[in-house]
Amino acid sequence: MRILLASSEVYPYSKSGGLADMVAALGKFLARAGHDVGLVTPLYRGIRERFRLLQPFRYRLEVPLGHATVSATLWTTAAPDGLRLYFVDQPAFFQRRGLYGEDDVAYADNAARFIFLSKAVAHLARHLTPPPEVVHVHDWHVGLVPLLIRDAAVRGGWREAPGTCLTIHNLAYQGVYPRAIYEATNLPWSYFTHEGLEFHGHVSLLKAGVAYADALTAVSPQYAQEIQTPEQGCGLDGLLRARAGRLSGILNGVDYEEWRTRNNPSLVHGYDLADPDGKAANKAALQHELGLPARPEVPLFGIVSRLVDQKGIDIELTALTELLASDIQVAVLGAGQPEFEEGFLRLADLHPEKVGVRLGYNHGLAHRIEAGSDFFLMPSKFEPCGLNQMYSLRYGTIPVVRATGGLDDSVIDIREDPARANGIKFHEYSSAALAKAIRKALALHGDPELVAHYRFNGMTADFSWDRTAAEYVAVYERIRRAAREAVPGATR
Ligand code: ADP
Ligand code: GLC
Repeated sequence: MRILLASSEVYPYSKSGGLADMVAALGKFLARAGHDVGLVTPLYRGIRERFRLLQPFRYRLEVPLGHATVSATLWTTAAPDGLRLYFVDQPAFFQRRGLYGEDDVAYADNAARFIFLSKAVAHLARHLTPPPEVVHVHDWHVGLVPLLIRDAAVRGGWREAPGTCLTIHNLAYQGVYPRAIYEATNLPWSYFTHEGLEFHGHVSLLKAGVAYADALTAVSPQYAQEIQTPEQGCGLDGLLRARAGRLSGILNGVDYEEWRTRNNPSLVHGYDLADPDGKAANKAALQHELGLPARPEVPLFGIVSRLVDQKGIDIELTALTELLASDIQVAVLGAGQPEFEEGFLRLADLHPEKVGVRLGYNHGLAHRIEAGSDFFLMPSKFEPCGLNQMYSLRYGTIPVVRATGGLDDSVIDIREDPARANGIKFHEYSSAALAKAIRKALALHGDPELVAHYRFNGMTADFSWDRTAAEYVAVYERIRRAAREAVPGATR
């Protein structure tokens, strides 16, 4: 099948979180399964310098953006498995220090930047020969694409218009902007309705996708249910319930070629189930890297996270403040809201021999924390899927998670299934409930046989992408079938 993916970030070219990992792996495993897969993404600062094999792609975009016309060139490269990347080169929009903002302040023109990106995706889809059969977009940045394609089919006479799929990685980010920005879409006002992309008098770029995509997916089965409730629907639960027949939950996979404990350039020592000793060596190396005493016996808790409300950092800081009276160590890597960054720095100041903190983005250290920790903390308020807990499982690091979204779908608590237990779960969103879960981890740490049982279950759990990619192909097939039925005599 011919599939065009679109995302604002793609690992290893750009990344702020799990979206980049997920989209890169989806593209790779679809291509490996024999599909013809393209992926459109912005050319951010530094990509051309880091990836010398990028070639100019002979197509110049000229896109109306309100009263202006914005042009862009494209760059392309083929990834090893045959995935073809298209980078949209619009320097004024994308050659900047950050992806979405700087110093925790969003760029003022993000609406224009991502409406433009969405238009670039729709234009490229129309230009490619043969054209894609399905265009699959991810999150709000490209949420407008399904509507742009629908409009081009209805008003623009695009007879071969592809079917569309929107994956919701995080409903909390919707791309909601004042009504005036609608001009930049150059669409008729007939779409600016309650059934369309209007959201309480504003424009919602994600809602355009939710309302007009042929298929909707969320990144875990549980999250697909949660977003249909008023508590977690972020104002779109009604529309999502109305479109429930087109919505499915597909748990993300893990790219075990990237997230591996052997021959991993980010790790000093390799290890696996058959040869587990390297895990202790990684712990010692991590303690050394973070300036913590090299004590093999002390339980070490890892945190790698965007430091934002979603991730439960408030209850984490409170619970750790209490638990740092015990003999534990904590390794923190993250960036985000200043109050959370300062909160961790304060803990490190108070307990320099127990807490090591690194602020900022550091890919290698993320692997080393996953490998060197005994436990991994993820007390998220909500978590659409979560990849870190699945990386932890493979790295033999026991996840301590709140039972929400994909965390609940991927981690097994001893109360659910003693034979298959691989992590510790708690339910109530409170620092007391988290502190209790951490105390359970400390008790578990004192029982090496039980730790070995959890580790075995975690390291053998299988979240490989073949299953996930096959589930997406089934969604694409449904879109294609529906399109054929809608247009009698059509061949695609
Ligand atoms: P989310 O996408 O909501 O941030 P996920 O668990 O799905 O959460 O994915 C997070 C990804 O981002 C993981 O690959 C994790 O290692 C990475 N990550 C998060 N913060 C950092 C950081 N400060 N440095 C390096 N990698 C990070
Ligand atoms: C979002 C979600 C996270 C998910 C990731 C990849 O960033 O917050 O839970 O794992 O997307 O789908």
